[in-house]
Parts: sequence; C-alpha cells; structure tokens
Amino acid sequence: MERIGVLTGGGDCPGLNAVIRGVVRKAALSNIKVVGIKNGWKGLVNIDTIDLDIDKVADILPKGGTILGTSRTNPYKNFEDVGKVIANYKKLKLDALVAIGGEDTLGVANKLVKENKGLNIVGCPKTIDNDLSGTDCTFGFDTAINIVTEAIDRLQTTADSHHRVMVVEVMGRHAGWIALHSGIAGSADFILIPEAPINLDEICNVITKQRQRGKLYSIIVAAEGAQIQGKDMVTKDQILDAFGHVILGGIGERLAKMIGNATGFETRSVVLGHLQRGGSPSAFDRVIATKFGVKAMELVLAKKFGYMASLQGTEVKEVPIELAVGTLKTVDAKSYDLAKTFFG
Ligand code: F6P
Repeated sequence: MERIGVLTGGGDCPGLNAVIRGVVRKAALSNIKVVGIKNGWKGLVNIDTIDLDIDKVADILPKGGTILGTSRTNPYKNFEDVGKVIANYKKLKLDALVAIGGEDTLGVANKLVKENKGLNIVGCPKTIDNDLSGTDCTFGFDTAINIVTEAIDRLQTTADSHHRVMVVEVMGRHAGWIALHSGIAGSADFILIPEAPINLDEICNVITKQRQRGKLYSIIVAAEGAQIQGKDMVTKDQILDAFGHVILGGIGERLAKMIGNATGFETRSVVLGHLQRGGSPSAFDRVIATKFGVKAMELVLAKKFGYMASLQGTEVKEVPIELAVGTLKTVDAKSYDLAKTFFG
C-alpha cells in the first residue's frame, strides 16, 4: 500500500475537510501518499488531482465545504466514463480509493466494487440529510440541524411579535430527518416530512386551536419533499441531475398561501436552502468526521474493500457499502409520533 486517492462527491457538507484530514494524517503514519481527486467522480474521469500531505490539511478541520471540490458527476450515465474511471485509477497508480459521499457517490463506489475491475474502494457516510442506511448518523447532519434550530429560534420572536404563522422550508428530499430533529429542538407547532403526506385541515386545526388557547403565533417546519395529501412534491423545475433527482423547492411558499387562505391568519414562509450546508462543522460533526476518516484509512490498511465507516452507538465500525446504498433510511413512524405529541 503506497498511494491512495480520496474524493468527495455529491452535495457538500460540513465535516468533509475533517474526514480528508483524518485520512491524510492516518495515511502519513504508514508513509502512504494521498492523492486528492478533485470534484468527485469527475476528477477520475478527467484526471484532475492534487497531492495531499499533512501540511496541506493542517488548518482545514474547521472549514466548511471541501478543499477538493465536489460535483454530482455520475460515471454510469455514460458508459465511456466508467471505463475512464477504471483506467485512470490505474494510471494514477492508486492502491485504494476513499470515496466520501452519500447515496449517489457511494452507489457509484458500490457498482465499481461489484464490477470487480481491480478498484479497491472504501466509503465514508456523508450527508446533511442523514438518510443513509448502515450508520446511526452521517456527518453534516448535526451541523445542519443546529443551523435550522437557531433559525427557528429567531423566527419564533418575529412570528410572536406579528402574531403570524411562519412556515420554514428545510432540506430533505425523501427523508424528513432535518425537519424532524430541528422541529423538535425548535419546538415547532407542526412538522411536515416526506414520509407522511398531510391533510391541510390537520395543520389548520392545530393552528386554530392554538389561537383559541391564546397562543398567537405558530411555527411550521416543512421538509422540501413534504407533500400535502393528493398533491405532488413541489419542484423548482423538471430538470434532472445526473442521478435522476429533480430540484425541489417551493412547498413552504405554497403551504403558507394555503394556510393563510384557509385560516385567515397572516402567514409567511422562509426557505433556509443551502445555508444548511454551509459554514463550519459543529464539534460533534468534527469528531465523527475525524473518526470516519481514520476508520476509512484503517479499512484500507486492513484491505477491507467494499466497506464503509459507520457509527454504531458510540463506536465507529464498518459495514458493507452495499448495505448503505440499498434503501434510504427514512423517518420511522415511532419517531414521527413522538414529534406529534408536541403539535399545537
Ligand atoms: O443531498 C443533500 C441535499 O442537500 C438535499 O437535501 C437537497 O435536495 C439537495 O442536496 C440540493 O442539492 P443542490 O446543491 O444540487 O441544489
């Protein structure tokens, strides 16, 4: 084991740099050279790399984003690109590759491992959405829910002053973990998640009862993929990315109009969008991302290819990447039921 590659793919997320630093520092202890592959799988399709050493990663731990850049490039969209990835891995003389990403990036890693063309890949579970199976949580999620919780706290005071309903739209395409956890932490009056389409009357009844009780403002948290029963997900446009995802957005605004019209209460909406992905990672994310990076390198050293670092309870262990990308980890009924205790 002399030379390994590391790449970050998919949406960026706080903690990516902490993983990269963990990989490089652990590799350095065994005199293994680390090549940073730029912009996710794109950097292996085109050979776009940067050599990494402990000086290059010295001050990156608290920085948001990724020093390697990222993209949603899917080599499996174009058969020739898969061939280029395999050929360039060999051209770069890599002995192994650490792929840091979510369902899409690790989905590509899993396919490459299964093709058995000599690519030794290990994974690290990233995404603010926390929707990856095979790990208790992904890094980036904790930072995101702290950003949203702070935003909700701030929105409480302005909503209270104006006696308004405030709808907060947060990220989460198919899984409502961000909405659920930030909604609980921010004492939201209603939380909408993609897993449980809601009847508009349910929300309006909750808000109306609150007013009758004398609480004159309400906070509604809605995941971007949340749906009103009988209606489709709200999308920005119909363009699909390389992994077939549509760009979501607009449920907050739509909901605000519907609630305002149905109840007569003044209603506003706010979209937190990419604010949730930006900035410095929380201490929790810095620690698990660091542990994931070190674990990924341990998997490389142990030649446990096709595996991914995974948080299980308080320990970082490993699971087959296949287990993480098979099905999305969505919000379970028990977790949502707990949140419902506090609706209204
Ligand atoms: O995959 C993470 C995520 O943050 C989703 O929650 C969101 O729908 C998507 O990325 C947004 O992606 P983009 O940065 O391409 O707009």
